[in-house]
Amino acid sequence: MAGIDYTERIPNNVNLAENRRLQRALEDWQPKFLEWWKDMGPLGFQAKDVYLRTAVSVDAQGWANFDYVRMPDYRWGIFLAEPEPERAVNFGDHKGSPAWQEVPGEYRGVLRRLIVTQGDTEPASVEQQQHLGRTCPSLYDLRNLFQVNVEEGRHLWAMVYLLDAHFGRDGREESEALLQRRSGNADKPRILGAFNEPTPDWLSFFMFCFFTDRDGKYQLASLAESGFDPLSRTCRFMLTEEAHHMFVGESGVQRIVQRTCELMREHRTEDVRKHGGIDLATIQKYVNLHCSVSLDLFGSEVSTNAANFYTMGLKGRFEEMKKDDDHTLKGATYSVADLAGDRIGTREEAALVSLNERLRDDYVADCQRGVNRWNQVIRSHGIDVELRLPHRAFRRAIGSFADVKVSPDGRVLSEAEWDARHHDWLPTADDQAFVGSLMQPVTEPGRFASWIAAPPRGINGRPLEFEYVRLG
Ligand SMILES: [Fe+2]
Ligand SMILES: [Fe+2]
Repeated sequence: MAGIDYTERIPNNVNLAENRRLQRALEDWQPKFLEWWKDMGPLGFQAKDVYLRTAVSVDAQGWANFDYVRMPDYRWGIFLAEPEPERAVNFGDHKGSPAWQEVPGEYRGVLRRLIVTQGDTEPASVEQQQHLGRTCPSLYDLRNLFQVNVEEGRHLWAMVYLLDAHFGRDGREESEALLQRRSGNADKPRILGAFNEPTPDWLSFFMFCFFTDRDGKYQLASLAESGFDPLSRTCRFMLTEEAHHMFVGESGVQRIVQRTCELMREHRTEDVRKHGGIDLATIQKYVNLHCSVSLDLFGSEVSTNAANFYTMGLKGRFEEMKKDDDHTLKGATYSVADLAGDRIGTREEAALVSLNERLRDDYVADCQRGVNRWNQVIRSHGIDVELRLPHRAFRRAIGSFADVKVSPDGRVLSEAEWDARHHDWLPTADDQAFVGSLMQPVTEPGRFASWIAAPPRGINGRPLEFEYVRLG
């Protein structure tokens, strides 16, 4: 079961050959996906050999095989984590009944929406990152970008499998629509705001992987708790891939911070721009921007939708099964961020409607751990500066703080104060132009751009000067 059949046109571990109807639906979708990939996937590198990992098995030990592959030949397929015998619905009104192998009729619409919303983010990020290859800081980073891109493509496959296998004609229509929306397009945008924002440079890309892919991790982790077992198994395998995206984001920013600190020490100045680095103040602005955009992805602090998803047994909490309570949350309360006059505090709210805020809390704590590791690098250079996550009310477009202006340290501001200060907190056109000016491609094996340190080690035990992408 764990092994993946690569002799099939669509690699899979779901016995696709035994389900002719589904196989036909997916084989019909496959060329459309490839067309989308050629159109919207990485620009200019489709014919190059890239040193990529491909899943060979879904068990914990060594699921990956590394080899050169041209991206359009990547073996996208359908991989579900091993079934857990006797798995039950573990929370909500159906707690204790056997996990569903088929979609419960009454939840069909809700479940489809959840899957489509998750699925839509996957091709969106590929579209957002389409042009980045042309300005890569190294072949190592170029390869990591492409690894993330092909895996987001596979995540799209994962959601399309669920739609085609379990939602009949509606599902097939949704599968098509996932290839038709376009990130940032005014007429047919992607569903969620953050996935319509541009990713203009590599600092933005690393921030996106750190903050926005991490939202993905938390959404997938909650869906991995689902009572709908195929969704749970799909998400559990996706999480193993998502871990690499977290790594690309965190280590990417860390290497930028490290390079900045080296330049600060060498030239005894905070202003490292003239020495080809990105100053910490600018990095902080990008943290503020990408964190606030990603916090919105969790939705409103108080949400009956979130309560319903939970009560229906469709979407759990982060690490639901590690929590020591009744897993129905009836009568329980949770503390949510709240605006009272011009002050931000907290208030107790019913736990069920507070599930978005609770997931956001888990997310913020995880982000903070990463920021702490960046600050460790700064400290190790003897520099007395700390990067900080902005207050959760800063620059929010969704939820309780959408209508107020709040500083990164959580003070409610007048419009005038905001207008006077926001240039200090968010990337300005000048900042973006400066970061953009650094984006000159470096493609000699083993070399890295001036603004980013080399990583401590290569991929899969290969040296740094390995030719991770063959451009010749
Ligand atoms: Fe993904
Ligand atoms: Fe991802």
